[in-house]
Amino acid sequence: MKVYLNGEFLPLEEARVPVMDRGFVFGDGVYEVVPVYHRRPLAWERHWARLEHSLQGIRLANPLSREAWEQIVERLVAESEQADQSLYLQITRGVAPRDHGFPANIVPTVLAMSKPLAPPPQAWLQDGVQAVTRQDDRWLHCDLKTTALLANLLLRQQALDVGAVECILLRDGRLTEGAASNVVLVIDGTLVSPPRDHRMLAGITLELVMALAQRHGVTVQEREVTEAELRGAQEIWLTSSTREMLPVTRLDGVPVGTGKPGPVGQRLLAAYQALK
Ligand code: PDD
Repeated sequence: MKVYLNGEFLPLEEARVPVMDRGFVFGDGVYEVVPVYHRRPLAWERHWARLEHSLQGIRLANPLSREAWEQIVERLVAESEQADQSLYLQITRGVAPRDHGFPANIVPTVLAMSKPLAPPPQAWLQDGVQAVTRQDDRWLHCDLKTTALLANLLLRQQALDVGAVECILLRDGRLTEGAASNVVLVIDGTLVSPPRDHRMLAGITLELVMALAQRHGVTVQEREVTEAELRGAQEIWLTSSTREMLPVTRLDGVPVGTGKPGPVGQRLLAAYQALK
């Protein structure tokens, strides 16, 4: 596997970053995950815009032009062994003696790599997956896709520890998102997702699914979702670039709706498969 690191294309094993990289020491960086199908990045424009938003949010200028990024991406995608890929882009503030303040004249570290993207297991799609709920104890800049993911990791692991695949988060009694996914619900036939604000990442998959829903005549609503609404939803679906759409059929051990993947989400999943 080849990676791009600071101007060079190298085998993964040869790619090295100094220990004083602020990405390593502080988690001082941002990233993107872009799904690639048939060697074509899906919704590149949206991922690019979100990368710029994350960079702005941590006050870091993009070290490369859009054209330069696109050339890197094109080469990695072309040289990757599989046509369907998960493309990873990361920018950290760079290498400097450890100090909390932003160093002057620092050169950002740029990493890009692509790995094969496998579809989720068939059993997950057929039977659905289990999720648990936890209090969302992350910071209030969840709209930024930063590499500082420890809070997300601790939450996701709590789900894995009990055999669930995702941890669904509630802040002040309101649904936010999953530890590494967004959450959409079907409530009285309407597709509902929480407001895209600082409490959650504006997921690209979510945006695509909401747009598909509108095209298929499903009413969509972006609004606050209470814990009671989450627990009473007919359908719960997780969306993310790597797992696409996954039906949640048990939440904290309790069946969701009929306990089977619901029809509204299934229609949208089929539409998403066609789109990609
Ligand atoms: N994560 N919310 C969080 C906290 C996420 O980490 C992700 C995706 C999403 C879904 O966003 P999108 O649809 O744009 O992938 C929502 C990626 C896949 C990751 O960290 O690997």
